[in-house]
Amino acid sequence: MSYDITLVPGDGTGPVLTACARRVLEAAGVPISWDVQDAGQGTFERTGDPLPERVLASIRANGVALKGPLSTPVEAPYPNVNLTLRQELDLYAGVRPCRSFPGVPSAYEDVDVIVIREMTEGMYTGIEFEEGTVATKELIGFIEEETGRRIRDRSGISIKDISVHGTERIVRFAMRYAIDHARSKVTASHKANIMKFSDGLFLETARRVASEEFGQVPFEDRIIDACCMQLVSTPERFDVLVLPNMYGDLVADLCAGLTGGLGLAPGGTHGDGVAVFEAVHGTGPRIKDPDRANPSALILSATLLLHHIGEPEAADRVERSVAAVLAEGRSVTYDVKPSRNDPTAVTAAEMTEAVIASL
Ligand code: NAI
Repeated sequence: MSYDITLVPGDGTGPVLTACARRVLEAAGVPISWDVQDAGQGTFERTGDPLPERVLASIRANGVALKGPLSTPVEAPYPNVNLTLRQELDLYAGVRPCRSFPGVPSAYEDVDVIVIREMTEGMYTGIEFEEGTVATKELIGFIEEETGRRIRDRSGISIKDISVHGTERIVRFAMRYAIDHARSKVTASHKANIMKFSDGLFLETARRVASEEFGQVPFEDRIIDACCMQLVSTPERFDVLVLPNMYGDLVADLCAGLTGGLGLAPGGTHGDGVAVFEAVHGTGPRIKDPDRANPSALILSATLLLHHIGEPEAADRVERSVAAVLAEGRSVTYDVKPSRNDPTAVTAAEMTEAVIASL
C-alpha cells in the first residue's frame, strides 16, 4: 500500500527544496505515490491562473500535501495565492515547531516552542478598501457616523475580524495538540487591551474554552508586545503559543530567528480532514542560486507530514538525521555555517545526500 500525497513544487527555491524532501522520504522507505501539481507565479505566467482548481481537487482528494513556497509579488494582478489556498481548503491551524539544533549558530541553545496560528481570519482575510475609491469613502462615512471618530482623508482600510467560531476551534486545536504531544502549558497572546472587540473577543473565548473544556491543561495569556519581549529574553517561559493570524505569522518568524533562521523552520497547516505541510520561509528571492538554499525546513516539514500520516518511526529517523548533519556542521548550507561566506558551504542537494547517508 502507498500513500497518495499531493506535491506542489511552488516558485523560487520551491522546486529544488521539495525535490530534496521527496528524495529523503523515498530514502526513508515510506511508499508514497506523488501527484505533482504546479501552482504559483510560474503557473500564472503560463496559464493565467496561479491556483488552478485541479490543485485544490488533488489536495482535497488526498487529504495531504507537501508544498513549496508560492510567490505573490506585491504588484501581482491576483490575490495572495497562499491565502487563497488556505481559504479554499479552510486550513485554519498553522503549526510551527521552533526548536534549537545543536551545532547551529543561534542566540539560544534550548528553545522548544510550538507556535499555533489561526489562519482564516484576523488581519489576513484580504478584505481591503483601496484609498480613493467610492466604497472606501462610503465606508469611512459610515464609520464616522457610527463612532464619531474621524478617519484621515486619503486612507486605505484593511478589515480585522475575529469570530467566536474561529477562536474556539483554534484554541481547541492548540489544547488538543498540547495534550497529544505531552506539552506543559498553552499561552494565548493578544492585544485585548487596545482592540477590545477583536482581540478582546479572542481572549475571552480562549479563556472560556480553556477553563470549560480543558481544565487539565495549564493556560495563561500574554499581551503580544510583552510576549515578544519575553520570547527574545527568556524563551524557556513558553511551550505552546496560540495566536490570532497576524501575530502568529510574526511570532513564528521571530521564533525561527531564535533557533537558527528560516532555513530550519518547518510548518504544517491543518483543516478538517486536510493538511498541507510547508516550510515557514517564502521563495527566497534574495538567494541568488536556489541550489544554495537550506533544504532542512522542507525536510522537517516532511517529518511533520510523516507523523500526520502515521509514520512516526520514519519521521523520527529523518529528524535525527537532519539533527546529526546539522550537529556535524560539515555538509550544511551557507546559512547555518558560522560565516555566511564560508567557502565550505554545500548545496541543497549535497546536504540532502548527507541526511540520506545518516538515515
Ligand atoms: P523569504 O522567506 O523568501 O525570505 C526571507 C529570508 O529568509 C531571506 O533572508 C531568505 O534568504 C531567507 N530564506 C528563505 N528561505 C531560505 C532557505 N531555504 N534557506 C536559507 N535561507 C532562507 O520571504 P520574502 O522574501 O518575504 O518573500 C518572498 C516571496 O515568498 C514573496 O513572494 C512571498 O509572497 C512568498 N512567501 C510565500 C510563503 C509560502 O508560500 N508559504 C511564505 C512567505 C513568503
